[in-house]
Amino acid sequence: MMIDKSKLAIDIQGVDVHYHGFAALRDTSIQIEHGTFSGVIGMNGAGKSTLFKVVMGLVRPTRGRAIVCERTPRQAQKIGCVAYVPQSEQVDWDFPISVYDVVMMGRYGAQNIFRSPRGDDRARVEGALERVGMAEYRDRQIGELSGGQRKRVFVARALAQGAEILLLDEPFAGVDAKSERALTELLVSFKAEGKTIILSTHELTSLTEYCDHVALVKHTVVAYGPTEEVFTRDLVSHTYDGIVHRVAFAK
Ligand SMILES: Nc1ncnc2c1ncn2[C@@H]1O[C@H](COP(=O)(O)OP(=O)(O)O)[C@@H](O)[C@H]1O
Ligand SMILES: [Mg+2]
Repeated sequence: MMIDKSKLAIDIQGVDVHYHGFAALRDTSIQIEHGTFSGVIGMNGAGKSTLFKVVMGLVRPTRGRAIVCERTPRQAQKIGCVAYVPQSEQVDWDFPISVYDVVMMGRYGAQNIFRSPRGDDRARVEGALERVGMAEYRDRQIGELSGGQRKRVFVARALAQGAEILLLDEPFAGVDAKSERALTELLVSFKAEGKTIILSTHELTSLTEYCDHVALVKHTVVAYGPTEEVFTRDLVSHTYDGIVHRVAFAK
C-alpha cells in the first residue's frame, strides 16, 4: 500500500450529515496528520460515531467532503488504508465465528470474502494474534471472550489488514482498568511505528496520558489540536454543557 505520510491522514471539510432530515453533524471540519494519536470526546449523541462513519464511508455527507489517505472514504476502504473497531453494541456477538476467522477477515478485504487464505495470509493473521496477546484464543468463538479480549481481536484484524489508520469507537466501554491499560499500551506502540490512532472515549481522566491530540465534538468538531491546547477546562466544559467533574486540566 503506497501512502504518502507527509500528506494528511484525514481531511474533512465542511461536512453535514443528516439522518432522516435530522442534522447529526453540521459544517464539520478536521485535519488529522499521520502518526498522531487522537482522542475524540463529547456527550452521548454528539456525533462521534457519525464522524467515524464518515471516515469509513458508511454514511454519506449531504454537504462537504471527506478525504482519507488522499482518496475518497470508499477507495481508502478498498485499499485497506483504514480499519474500524465498532462500538460493542453494533456487533452481533452471537454470530458463530472464531477469533482466527475474524482476524482473517482483515486479509480478505471487502471484495474477496470467498477466496482461500494463502500462506502469507496465515502468517500475517498469526503474527497479529501474537502481537495482541490473543494467539492462544484463536479457536474460540468471538462471543465467548471478555470485552477487552474482543477489542484486541479487532485490533489484530486491523493489523493483519495492514491498516495505516485505526479508528476505535469507545473501546473502553465495559472494559476493566487493566484491560484498558493493556489496550492503550498496544495502541501507543502502533503509534511509535507511524500508525495513526483515533479513538472515542468517555474516560477523560486517562486521556492525556496517551493522546497527543484531542477532538471535541458537539454536533460539529468544536476544536481539534494538541492535547495541551484543546483539552482545557473552558473548551471541555463547553463541549459537555458545563458539566465536567474530577478532571485534571492542563489549564
Ligand atoms: N442510523 C441513525 N438513524 C437516525 N439517527 C441516528 C442514526 N445514527 C445516529 N443517529 C442520531 O445522530 C446523533 C449522533 O449520533 P452518534 O454519532 O451515534 O453520536 P455519539 O457517537 O457521539 O453518541 C444522535 O442524535 C443519534 O440519535
Ligand atoms: Mg457513539
